[in-house]
Amino acid sequence: MIEVDRVTDKPPVTPNLSTQVAERDVARPDVPREAVFALEGVQVCYGDVPAVAGVSFELYKNQITAFIGPSGCGKSTLIRCLNRMNDLIPSASIRGKVLYHGVDLYADGVDPVQVRKRIGMVFQKPNPFPKSIYDNVAFGPRVLGMKDDMDDIVERSLRKAALWDEVKDRLKTNAFGMSGGQQQRLCIARALAIEPDVILMDEPASALDPISTSAIEDLMLELVGQYSIVIVTHNMQQAARVSDRTAFFNVDLDGGRRVGRLVEYAETEKIFTNPDDERTKEYVTGKFG
Ligand SMILES: Nc1ncnc2c1ncn2[C@@H]1O[C@H](COP(=O)(O)OP(=O)(O)OP(=O)(O)O)[C@@H](O)[C@H]1O
Ligand SMILES: [Mg+2]
Repeated sequence: MIEVDRVTDKPPVTPNLSTQVAERDVARPDVPREAVFALEGVQVCYGDVPAVAGVSFELYKNQITAFIGPSGCGKSTLIRCLNRMNDLIPSASIRGKVLYHGVDLYADGVDPVQVRKRIGMVFQKPNPFPKSIYDNVAFGPRVLGMKDDMDDIVERSLRKAALWDEVKDRLKTNAFGMSGGQQQRLCIARALAIEPDVILMDEPASALDPISTSAIEDLMLELVGQYSIVIVTHNMQQAARVSDRTAFFNVDLDGGRRVGRLVEYAETEKIFTNPDDERTKEYVTGKFG
């Protein structure tokens, strides 16, 4: 019997995952393979305790890459390395290299604010500012002094986030008056407004109902033509439905210490249908984690 996930009312793993993956691959056959990120031996510590270590892989342009794995294996820690959000945590330190289009993001002289302009982030809990819908979207462009007409930027961003039709008549009302799913799409519009190249999403739909979740997934599939997307998710169906490649992380015991490690990274279809590592297989089929 398949257990039902209480939050989504969906089974954690469907028997026909492979079919879902295959259908999506057919829908986008010409996926290019240009690396946006190349990580080389990345390790992140909090204080002197390593949270995740030994991560080397490339993430590709115009693809959706999913990070999956049990709680505490370092998914959020790692995704935050990709736009230097860990800089904001005083105890965090990084070793190894994070190359973005070949540029070392942690090299001397790299401005983290510029990094976050190119690499936007959407969080688990929708976090609109206590401002109008319009001002939320206009916030980043105003701070950055972007020259385009602000009404155009706001409309374009809300359209890209598939929110325009729902909010065009109430742009000046407070964003807190929106539903959770709308607030999350507003946060995506806010991230898009500064014209990033990459969007990082750490469990963007885990606080949302199934309909809003599905809207966010559709949106990712729309956006990936123009952007590169990295998503952390605990929802196996979501990883299978939306991602091109999947990275599975696990917690290893290194001399008594729990450290996150990349176990397997491959095309999503392979991870879900024919993984090399037994631990990946057990995780994606719901046997642990
Ligand atoms: N700010 C922090 N200070 C100290 N330790 C931290 C901090 N953030 C995370 N950690 C630790 O780093 C490890 C990895 O945490 P992280 O949040 O990256 O895991 P995760 O895979 O995102 O987990 P989850 O699925 O629960 O979100 C954990 O042991 C966690 O306790
Ligand atoms: Mg996390």
